[in-house]
Parts: sequence; C-alpha cells; structure tokens
Amino acid sequence: MKSDMMSWACPHKVIVMLSLLSFSLFVSTIALSVKSTTHRVEGNILSTDISKKTKTKEDHVINYRLSRDVRPLNYTLILWPDLERRCFKGQVTIRMRVLRPTTNIEVHVKNLSINYVDFNDDANRFVQINTTNLIPKREVYEVQFGHNEISEGVYKLTLNFTGKLDTGIVGFYQSKLRGGLSMVASKFQPTYARQAFPCFDEPDFKATYDITLVKPIDYVALSNMNEISKSVDKSTKTETVTFATSVPMSTYLACFVVCNFDYKETLINTSGIGKDFTLRSFAQKQQTHKIDFAQDIGKRATEFYIKYYEVPYPLPKLDMIAIPDYVSGATEHWGLITYRETSFLVDEATTSSQNKISVANTIAHELAHMWFGNLVTMKWWDEVWLNEGFASYMQVKSLNAIEPSWTMLDQFLTKTLHSVLVTDAKLSSHPIVQKVETPDQITAIFDSISYNKGASILRMLEGFIGEENFRKGVSDYLKKYKYGNTVTQELLSSLEPYFKTLYPHLSLKYIMDTWTRQMGYPLITVRPAANNIYILTQSRFLLDPAATYDDDSEFHYRWYVPITYSTSKEKRDDILWFADTSDSVEISLSDDEKLLKINNNQMGYYRVNYPLDMWSQIIEQLKVKSNMLTISDRAHLLDDAFALSDAGILPYDIALSLTQYLPVEKDFVPWETASAKFSHLSKKLINTPAYENLKKYVQHLISGLYTEQSWEKTNLDVIQGLLRTRVLTLAASSGLPDAERRVRNMFLNWLNSHGTNTIIEPDLRSLIYYYGMKHASAEDWEKLWALYLQEEDVQEQTKLRSALSAPEDVAILKRYLNLAWDEKNIRSQDYLNVLQLISTNPSGNGLVWDEVRNRWNTLVDRFTLNSRYLGNLIPAITSGFNTEKQLQEMISFFEENSEAGAGASARQRALENVRNNIKWTSSHQSTVASWLENYVKAIKSI
Ligand SMILES: *[C@@H]1O[C@H](CO)[C@@H](O)[C@H](O)[C@H]1NC(C)=O
Ligand SMILES: *[C@@H]1O[C@H](CO)[C@@H](O)[C@H](O)[C@H]1NC(C)=O
Ligand SMILES: *[C@@H]1O[C@H](CO)[C@@H](O)[C@H](O)[C@H]1NC(C)=O
Ligand SMILES: *[C@@H]1O[C@H](CO)[C@@H](O)[C@H](O)[C@H]1NC(C)=O
Ligand SMILES: *[C@@H]1O[C@H](CO)[C@@H](O)[C@H](O)[C@H]1NC(C)=O
Ligand SMILES: [Zn+2]
Repeated sequence: MKSDMMSWACPHKVIVMLSLLSFSLFVSTIALSVKSTTHRVEGNILSTDISKKTKTKEDHVINYRLSRDVRPLNYTLILWPDLERRCFKGQVTIRMRVLRPTTNIEVHVKNLSINYVDFNDDANRFVQINTTNLIPKREVYEVQFGHNEISEGVYKLTLNFTGKLDTGIVGFYQSKLRGGLSMVASKFQPTYARQAFPCFDEPDFKATYDITLVKPIDYVALSNMNEISKSVDKSTKTETVTFATSVPMSTYLACFVVCNFDYKETLINTSGIGKDFTLRSFAQKQQTHKIDFAQDIGKRATEFYIKYYEVPYPLPKLDMIAIPDYVSGATEHWGLITYRETSFLVDEATTSSQNKISVANTIAHELAHMWFGNLVTMKWWDEVWLNEGFASYMQVKSLNAIEPSWTMLDQFLTKTLHSVLVTDAKLSSHPIVQKVETPDQITAIFDSISYNKGASILRMLEGFIGEENFRKGVSDYLKKYKYGNTVTQELLSSLEPYFKTLYPHLSLKYIMDTWTRQMGYPLITVRPAANNIYILTQSRFLLDPAATYDDDSEFHYRWYVPITYSTSKEKRDDILWFADTSDSVEISLSDDEKLLKINNNQMGYYRVNYPLDMWSQIIEQLKVKSNMLTISDRAHLLDDAFALSDAGILPYDIALSLTQYLPVEKDFVPWETASAKFSHLSKKLINTPAYENLKKYVQHLISGLYTEQSWEKTNLDVIQGLLRTRVLTLAASSGLPDAERRVRNMFLNWLNSHGTNTIIEPDLRSLIYYYGMKHASAEDWEKLWALYLQEEDVQEQTKLRSALSAPEDVAILKRYLNLAWDEKNIRSQDYLNVLQLISTNPSGNGLVWDEVRNRWNTLVDRFTLNSRYLGNLIPAITSGFNTEKQLQEMISFFEENSEAGAGASARQRALENVRNNIKWTSSHQSTVASWLENYVKAIKSI
C-alpha cells in the first residue's frame, strides 16, 4: 500500500498521542451520533470494560471460546513490519457471516494496539458501533452494538492496529542475523496469530486470506501462497507484495516472513496426482550450501505423501525456510514451513548421521501435516493428538519408504515409544483426548502423550488393520473432510469399513476409545496352565506399585488389547483380541511348541510379564540369538524388564541378568535401549559405591564390540555408523581406559589447534567434545568458549554448547551459567536447553536448581508463563532428585510461585517423578548394588 501508512503510529510516543486524539474523536462520535462511515477508538486505554473482568471471579467460569454464531469467511490483511523500529502496523478486514442476530462481535487480540475500527454490511453500508472493549484475560476484543442488534448476514470488520516485533519469539517477531541484520517471521501455533492481527483464532474458523506484506526493497516477502503482484514505493524504499487468495485455512497456519535469504528450488513430480509444483528451500545467503539435504528429503517425502494420500498437494507452491530464532523445532505453516536452523541445515562436511536423521524426521513430520492437519484439521485442541500423533507416525513411515536403510521402524521404539511408556505409567499422565480451554492448557497439551502416545497407538492400529487398509482409510478421510475440521471419531469412521472386512463383529471406535479416552496402558500377565495353555490377564501398569487412584474411567482402566506372539515354531501376527470386559484370554499351543514372547515388535502399546522360568527361557533365547526374536523384540524385552523391575513387579536381578546377553547383540536399537537403561541406573547410583561397579559392568559388556570399532574415519552405512557411535560413547561414559585416553588426546589436539588442525569425524564430535571436556581446566574451557562464539554452523554450535556443560569443576559451570543468560552469547531459544545440559552434569545439578529458583521472575519475564518450554524445564532439571529434602524444596518453590501457567501439569509430573525416585532408592538400590558387586567380583576372578 502507499505511503499514507507512514502517518500511523508505530513507536510508543506517537501511540500515546494518537490514543488521546482518538479518544476525543471517539467521544464526539458517540455524543453527537454523527453518521460517519468511520470512527476511531483506542481500545487499550479507553474502553476496557472493567465490569466484564471482575464479574467472573474464577478462571473456570470464564468462557475462553468465541461464539459459534459468527464465522469468518475472508481476511484481507496488510502488514508492514518496520525492522529498524522493531514494530509493525497492519490493517485487517474480516468478512464474516453472522448466523444469529447479536449485540456484539468478538475477535481475538493480544498485545496489539487498535487505533481504528469500522464495521459495514456486505454492501459497504456503515453499521453504528456503540462501544469496543478489550478483555485481556480472554485475549478478546469486543465490538458492541448496544441496543441496535445486528441481524443475520455478511459483514465486514476493519481494524487498524500496531504491535511490537521484539517481545519474544512467538506471534510476529524479529529474528537477529549475524552482522547486525535482522528478519521478521511468524509462529502462530497454537494461539499466537492474535498477536499479529485481530482474528478468530480457533482452528475450526477456517477462512481464506488475501495477504499483503510491505518490505524493504532488497528483501523477500513470503507467505502461504504465491506472489501475484508487487509495487515499489521509492519514497519509503519499500515494496508492497500481494499474495494469491489462500484456500480456506485455520489462523494458526498463516505465515509471514520478510528476509534477505537465498533459495534453491526443485520440481515436485506429482505422478499425475495434481499439478507439478515447485519446492523452494530458503536459508541465509552464506548458508545455501547447507540446504541440499533438506531439499532432497523434502522432495522425496512430498512425492511419497502425494502417492500415499492420493490427494493432490492443495497449494500452488511449497517453501521451507530456516529461521535463526525459533521457539520450536518447526511449524507446518501451510505452503511455508518454518524451521529452527538445527532442524533444517546440514553441512555434509560437519554434520553427524544423528543430526541428519533428526533433520529428516522433522521435515517428514511437517510435510505430513500439509494434508493431515492442514487440509483436514482437528476441531479443537482437545484432539491435537490427531494432528501430532499422526504426523509423528507418518514421518517414520515416509522415511522408512525413502531411506529404508535407516530402519526407522525399529528406531521408533527408542525415539518415540519407550519414553512415553514411562510418562504414561504415572498418575500425572492424561488421556490422549483431553479437555483444554485456556491458552496455557492448549500449549501444554503439545506434549509426549499427544505426539508419542498418539503415534504409538496409530502404529498399533495399523498393525492390526494392515498397512494398505490404514492407507486407504486415511485417504478416504482426507478426501471426505478436506478443508474441514474433525474429531477422532471421524478418522475412525473412515477406517472402520476396512477394519470390518477383517473383524466384522468388532467396533474399531470402541477399541480405540479404550486407548484414547483413558490414560495409561495395560500390563499383560502370562500364567501357564495345563496342556500347554497360557492364561493372560490384564491390569493397569503403574511405576509406583503403591499408587492408588479413583476408578474415574468409563473403561475402568481396562483396554481392548490386540495380542500377538512368537513361539519356538513361528511368529503369530493374527490378532487374539483381549476385550476390556473379559477377565482373561488363553493361548493354546501345540505339544511341541513353547511360548516365547508376546507383543511382536512391540507393536501393541502394552507391557508383558512372564513367570520367572519363562524369563529365564527368554534370556537363554537371547543369548543364542534366536531368530524368532527380532531387533524390535529384543529392544522390547529390555525395556519391559527394567520397567517391570522399577515397578517392583519383577525382581531387579532378572532385568540385570537380561543385559548379560548384550555381548552377542550387534544391532543398534537394542544397544540404544540398553544404553538408556544404564543411564537410568547411573542417575540413581551416581553418589554411591555401586556407581563404579556399574561402569565396570558396562565396560565388560561392550569390550568385545568395542575392539571391533574404529576411531579412525570409516565408511560404514548409516545404521552401523550409529552403532559405532553408541558403542564408543558407552566406552567413554563408562570410563574404559583406552577410550578415555583416545578421547582426551583427540580432543586436546583439536582444541590446541583452535579447532582447525586435526579433523574429528562428524559422527564422533559430540562424544569427543563432551568427554574431552570432562576433566577440563578453566583454561581449556575458555578456549572452547572462544571457539563457540566464533562458530557459525548451528549443528556444531549445539555440540559445543553441550561440551561446555561437561566439566566437573563447579566454578566453571557457574561461569557458563552466567554467560549463557546474555543473549549475545546464547540465543534465548537455546538458553533453557543450556540449563538442562548443566543440570544433567552432577556437578551442575544443584547449581541450576538454585539459579532457576533465584531467577524465576526474570525467567518468567523472558519466556512468559505461557511457555511450555519453561514449564517443562522443571521436570527436566529435577529428574534425578531422590531425597525428601529436594522434594520439600520443590514443594516450597511451587507454593511461593503458585502461578504455573502452561507448566501446571509439568510440575505434577516432576513431583510424582521425585516421589518415585525416593521410593526407588529404598526399594531397589541395595539389590542392584549387590548384583553388580557380585558380578564384578566374578569378572575379576576369571
Ligand atoms: C471467502 O471465503 C469463502 C469461504 O471460505 C469462499 O467460499 C469465498 O470464495 C471467499 N471469497 C473471497 C472473495 O475470497
Ligand atoms: C501482552 O498482553 C498480556 C495480556 O493479554 C499482558 O499481560 C502482557 O503484559 C502484555 N505484554 C506486552 C509485552 O505488552
Ligand atoms: C451504548 O452502551 C451503553 C452501555 O455500555 C448503553 O447505556 C447505551 O444505551 C448504548 N447506546 C446505544 C445507542 O445502544
Ligand atoms: C488504516 O490503514 C490503512 C492502510 O491499509 C490506511 O490507508 C488508513 O489510512 C488507516 N486508517 C487510519 C485511521 O489510520
Ligand atoms: C515422475 O514420476 C514418474 C513415476 O512416478 C515417472 O514415470 C516420470 O518419468 C517422472 N517425471 C519426471 C519429469 O521426472
Ligand atoms: Zn506436528
């Protein structure tokens, strides 16, 4: 638009003047009842209706939702970010349909100053407004018509507004680049679109968008759709870019970027399903050599999804961009996916296989959303698992199709399933489908239950319905509900006909409700009976055996369980259904057959316990590498055995004995599982004499595999490379003398040549930097810090930040903590992660806990209570606490700072975890300690 926009205010001083001006104008408009087509108000200052705020005292009686009787149709939006003054102004016209006569209209607004409002009917006839109110608690701006109720029909609300770009990294915000430059970007999911423009900020208010961005001439403007026109204004040195009308979409998917980046492009071959289109990947100019990997994965994953869904990609273009300041890993903005740099940029010369796999996972996840989530969206955030669980599962399926050698289906266990089985075995868990209302509750539900459990139960569903049936049901669902909003039931209805072809007498909806509408999961207990029959029973699995709970579930904490099993003869993948209402089910085997293991590949979301002699038999099978037990089966057994022991259901000796098979284990995923178990144990034993024995035991287990690995540059395939890194890391962390010596030498060589002379292989960098720094002097640390400050590669920066937290010297960690707070050293997006890294180091744990408590108010100022990342910091840094004193400190801290915001449920998880840790120490520590002691004695005596 033209330069008259310059006349409206952006910086604060002018706003004050303008609001005074508008105040008088507003008053005179009302007083004189002047029939003008426009009038001005200053919502913030003038007419906040206090009575509205005080009328509703309790949070839970406040209705946070907007009326369903007014629905947006189209947004015409112009935004003008001012990079120098770090603010923006904008104008939005919302065309809306009023379905029932009403006296007021509400839109979401947060942290915007509204300086102009105007309301018209569809024929552009002026409609008189009585008053406007800001209701900050509900983040709502209300337009009141007083006695003059407006009738049904189509109307247009126009608002001019200003906002700031420097108040955080959600909404519409500025991101700093190297060399003093900056860019602007947006992140709206879940409730931050209202910080960029007034809107109906709920996912089922889909509407079309006509977006215009004003930008400096030498910058690029990007949005969801393709550019259709632009015009330069020489006097302001700006260019106005208008984008094509969007398809109907939710507010949280709108996206605006202004930057001076470069891009690479490639054509997406749709194989005739829709028109071919261009995929572009953007990054800062000096980093464009780091986008090839993302482009390649992006192209192949997109082509995979088009064929998988059998639905054309709905937009004419697709862009992806790496943004230096980014609050999450990435966001699926439709047609313009935004990424944190570490989730996108890959320098082939410096990036590890782990980094690449993680980048590929994020890209595959976001691309899955372009259909599932964006084209068909959950009705309300209660069902966010539909979006997130699905994309989290599809990322694995698509990568398995395009990069089968990465074995992502097996890695699903260690990356997704095992951790959530721990979270979900606590009373502080919640059902997948969970009622949420406030912005804090909405952001908090983007958690491992929605993502990981959601993905896990979809994997289970696919397991019993079959891959092709699953695909067809999903495709039907997308076609049927495109551009619409759905609830869980509608996905299940689309899958139901395919399910019925296999199980005509069962209901998929009923089965899945037992998994989505109550928290937790079952433990299946096996008991042998006469005639080679095994009897299976189910009960809720909880890590705390003494936990008590109300029977508040409609399914009474019982589940409809798909049972599969392997015997000494064969793998049985046909499903034995264990109904929630049955007391037990039976497996009947032929005389010459033995039951080996239940839950093939851990496809089912449950754990299994066997009698002790069966566990012994399982251990024997593992030791002789039974080919009836797959990679996933082995990882499953390790994971279950430790969980059952932690819960006091299985003697700890059994879980430990199971690990004795590891010397014959040559696959990555079981080792990854075992490594998590050892790290779990080492956290518990850290300050006890048993800790040294645990390290010796691990050294013993890996010694054979260790000698097969090389510290030199190798040419292994990806998964063998991951195994090698895992084994060498275990060697270093367990203090294997040869590994310690090599790490220290390689590290010091590298450090003393200022990170240039010797080249450490990308796959070994994390490990060598970290363990190389373990016994670092203050001088070494300063050298590494200097290297960190100069480093430009984000993957490398991440590894260095981690290494900087490794030293055992508390004084060094203190210095790190102080330097980290300065955003010139550590970006705000990485700060909470640095706190977690330092707290993982036993020398830094207490330090971080003190720091977080002392700085709490400043942390809240920087991140806000609405940050789920701040909320999740608490369980992360207290995860190892295991004393009554620490528990009391937490309780007092929560009492003193009772406003938890989006961290409320995180605090509950943290408390329950610490209580469990305290119990663990009294129940299991001595058993584990004496088992390890005996074992280590036995090794020595050989
Ligand atoms: C406005 O939105 C409606 C529904 O989303 C759509 O059908 C219509 O084409 C849009 N009109 C314009 C002018 O964009
Ligand atoms: C943003 O608005 C909220 C209330 O909706 C208020 O508490 C907060 O202080 C505001 N922040 C800024 C930076 O204006
Ligand atoms: C405007 O609203 C006030 C209360 O907010 C009311 O007293 C007044 O009658 C209204 N005027 C009209 C024209 O509706
Ligand atoms: C509102 O914004 C538009 C720019 O889109 C501008 O033309 C108009 O003058 C503004 N009105 C006021 C009162 O600031
Ligand atoms: C697109 O893919 C199909 C197979 O899926 C192939 O036959 C065709 O040659 C490809 N087209 C281009 C331009 O690469
Ligand atoms: Zn997602």
